[in-house]
Amino acid sequence: MIIIKSKGEKMNKKINKIYSGNEAKKWYRDKPQSISDFVGKERLLQTIKKEIENKCVLDLGCGEGYITRKIAKTAKKIIGIDLSQDMIDIANQTNKYNNVSYLILDIKNIEQIKETFDVIVISLVLHYFTHEELKTVSKKIAKLLRPGGKIYILGINTDELIKHKSSVWIRHKKFQNIKIDSFLEIKCLITCGEYKNSYRRVGFYYYKLEHYIKSFINSGLDLINIKYLSPTKKLLKQFPSMESEKNLYVLMIFEKNDK
Ligand SMILES: C[S@@+](CC[C@H](N)C(=O)[O-])C[C@H]1O[C@@H](n2cnc3c(N)ncnc32)[C@H](O)[C@@H]1O
Repeated sequence: MIIIKSKGEKMNKKINKIYSGNEAKKWYRDKPQSISDFVGKERLLQTIKKEIENKCVLDLGCGEGYITRKIAKTAKKIIGIDLSQDMIDIANQTNKYNNVSYLILDIKNIEQIKETFDVIVISLVLHYFTHEELKTVSKKIAKLLRPGGKIYILGINTDELIKHKSSVWIRHKKFQNIKIDSFLEIKCLITCGEYKNSYRRVGFYYYKLEHYIKSFINSGLDLINIKYLSPTKKLLKQFPSMESEKNLYVLMIFEKNDK
């Protein structure tokens, strides 16, 4: 395993705290467990299935390797990257595939990767970046894509989140007004989250979808599809609580044209 140390910013410290020790262990699973697995990642995996056949894939912010493991049988080669040493340790300990390797690296320093990829997956990660960081990070990510390659970004459908005020992140009264106001004023939703059984302002950045789209288009990519993801009727029957977060996930697909 190669370790490339990242710059010690405040956000990185926060991320390392959230995704460390027992908190990191809680993330490990091989079957869908949460709404984001059932609705978001299952659809992401279905969508990329054909695209990754015998291809080189980069999984950015791979966590403990949930998605990486699921695509290992189909892809030719996969590199999973994450900031958290503990998440990468779990990913390595549970890895059964020769074509998978993991790296501890801050996505903000992604230019240290000297390869290019056919497919890049970014699942539930972009909310750790400020708007300024997003602008530079999207350019660096786009450079790692081969001509004709695609980036699949699974994210929170912030436009929906703001309409319904329903997500777990904004449900708590204490934070509701602050967050809604800041979203409207500075177009950024600073969320709170359930962390160690209590609600805290964790300070993640959820921007309007147009900001993500602009960042990647300005990095030279074409937006080729946006899928708004909702649970199936069967899932809603099985998990009625999903009703309140029904349209919470979005999958954005960008392509690098081969000119
Ligand atoms: C919500 S988890 C998602 C994990 C995985 N992509 C999935 O969908 O199951 C977010 C992951 O992003 C990682 N992360 C956040 N900021 C990062 C950064 N700047 N560089 C690398 N990884 C980062 C965290 O350590 C964490 O493992």
